[in-house]
Amino acid sequence: MSPKAPVNVLMVCLGNICRSPTAEAVFRAQVATRGLDASIQVDSAGTSDWHIGGAPDPRSQQAAAVRNYDLSSLQARQVQVEDFETFDYILAMDQSNYRDLLSICPPQEAHRVSLFLSHGDSNLIEVPDPYNSGPEGFELVLDLVENTCSSLLDEITRKHNLSA
Ligand code: 4NP
Repeated sequence: MSPKAPVNVLMVCLGNICRSPTAEAVFRAQVATRGLDASIQVDSAGTSDWHIGGAPDPRSQQAAAVRNYDLSSLQARQVQVEDFETFDYILAMDQSNYRDLLSICPPQEAHRVSLFLSHGDSNLIEVPDPYNSGPEGFELVLDLVENTCSSLLDEITRKHNLSA
């Protein structure tokens, strides 16, 4: 039997330098811990073109490094229309990202797009943009991302019948 095609997950925020690269690194680490690297692939992108080619924000890198996530090799890119075919789960960090994604998504692919936090049990609807916040904003991003990635991984594993 040929191996199943991997499930592709895209984390999306505005700049692709704070929230979505954090979610990419955390989700990738959790996928690896569960031995699912061959079954699930993860990437991230921004709805804007503001930071294309840039590294994650140093404040995100530093906060993540304290929890043993390495963001240093990631490079910002902008969402492309091809992403709506490539990625099975396109996860928006906030409602503005969600609207921007749907505005460029072919209607028949809209089912792939959802709010990231809708896959977890947080009382919040959005991952707050930490860009103009203090260090506590970056900690909140990590807390929300760690919790929700774990629920998301449970959901994907169950729906796609994946095992290590
Ligand atoms: P992100 O945060 O969307 O989580 O990457 C932001 C990064 C940069 C800007 C805004 C939000 N900016 O205004 O440049």
